[in-house]
Amino acid sequence: MGYHPVSIGIIGMGHVGPHAANSLILQGIADEILVCDENEDKLRAEVQDLNDSTVFAPHRAVITNCHTDYEKLAQCDVIINASGQVTLSAISRTGELFKSVDDARLFAGRIAAAGFTGYYVNVTNPCDVVAREIFRLSGLPSSHVMGTGTCLDSARLRTVIALKTQLAPESIQAYMVGEHGNSQIAAWSSVSIAGKLLNELSDNPRFAMDGAEAESLARKGGYIAYHGKQRTEYAIANAATRIVRAIVHDEKVVLAASVQLNGAYGQKGLFASVPCIIGKDGVEEVLEIDMNDVEKQGFADSCDVIRGNFEKLAPFSVESSRTMPIVLPKHAEDDRRLD
Ligand code: 2OP
Repeated sequence: MGYHPVSIGIIGMGHVGPHAANSLILQGIADEILVCDENEDKLRAEVQDLNDSTVFAPHRAVITNCHTDYEKLAQCDVIINASGQVTLSAISRTGELFKSVDDARLFAGRIAAAGFTGYYVNVTNPCDVVAREIFRLSGLPSSHVMGTGTCLDSARLRTVIALKTQLAPESIQAYMVGEHGNSQIAAWSSVSIAGKLLNELSDNPRFAMDGAEAESLARKGGYIAYHGKQRTEYAIANAATRIVRAIVHDEKVVLAASVQLNGAYGQKGLFASVPCIIGKDGVEEVLEIDMNDVEKQGFADSCDVIRGNFEKLAPFSVESSRTMPIVLPKHAEDDRRLD
C-alpha cells in the first residue's frame, strides 16, 4: 500500500515542543516525531512520556530522540522550530532575538546540507525574524517556510469576539496581522460573521463591540498567560499543530501565518503575518484582506518594526551555517546504539 507515514521534526523540547508533539499524537496527525534538544535529560524524559502517551492516541506513533543530531530531521515532512529561552521575552518578544537566531543558525544550514526538502513551521520568537533567518539559511523556496505568527493572535481575537457574542470561534472570521508582537494590528473593519461585517451587525446588542478593546485584549493574551506561569504553551502549540495539519492533509485552508511578502500589501522582502492559503505546497497563496486607511498604516508600521529587528542581526553566511559543529551529549551514543 502506498501510504506515506507523516514524519514531523520538532527542535526544542522545553514547553511548546512537547505540547505540539502531544497534540500531533492525540489528533492523529503524525506517525513519527523526531525531536531534538540540547537538554539531554529533559529530552529523554519527554520522549519517554510522549511514547507512553501514544497508547491513548487514535493510532500508533513513535517519538524518537535525536539529541542534537539535527541532520536526522532532514527526512521529515515538516519541522517545527520551538527552540528558545522564553524567559528572555519577559519584557518583549524581541528579548529572545539573538539567542533564537543563534539557535536557528546552528541547525538550519546543517539540515539543509543533509538534503531537507520539506516545510518549516517556526514558533520561536521573535517569530517573524526567526522565520526569515531560517528561510535564508534553508535553501528552500519561501513557500516552504512559515511562522505561527498571528495565527495565534487571530485565535485570541476570535476568542475575545466569541466570548462577547457567545458564538463559536469557527463562526467568526477575524485576523490580527503584522508582527507577532506588540505592533500587530486587528483588521477589525474586515471582521465578519455569516458573511456580514461585524460593523454592519452592531445594531444587534449581541454583536456591538469596541474594536480597539478587542484588539488590545488579543494583543495582550500572551502576556496574561505569561504573567501567571512565565510561558505560554497550549495555544501556541496548537497553532503550530494546526498549520502542520493544513500542510500534511493538503487542506488549502486560510490561516494567518508569518510568510514572506513579495509585494502583497505593498511590502517586500520580510516575513509578516497575513491570511494565506496553506496546503501540501506550504504557503500556496497570500491573500490581501481589506483594511481601512488606519489599519493599512498600522500594518505598514508593524512591518517596519519587523525589518528593524532583522537589521539588528550580525552578518552570518549561508556557507558557515552548512558546517556548524556537531556537539552530541554524552548519552547520544548509547541511544544511537538503541536505534
Ligand atoms: C505567544 O504569544 C509564545 O509568542 C507566543 O504565546
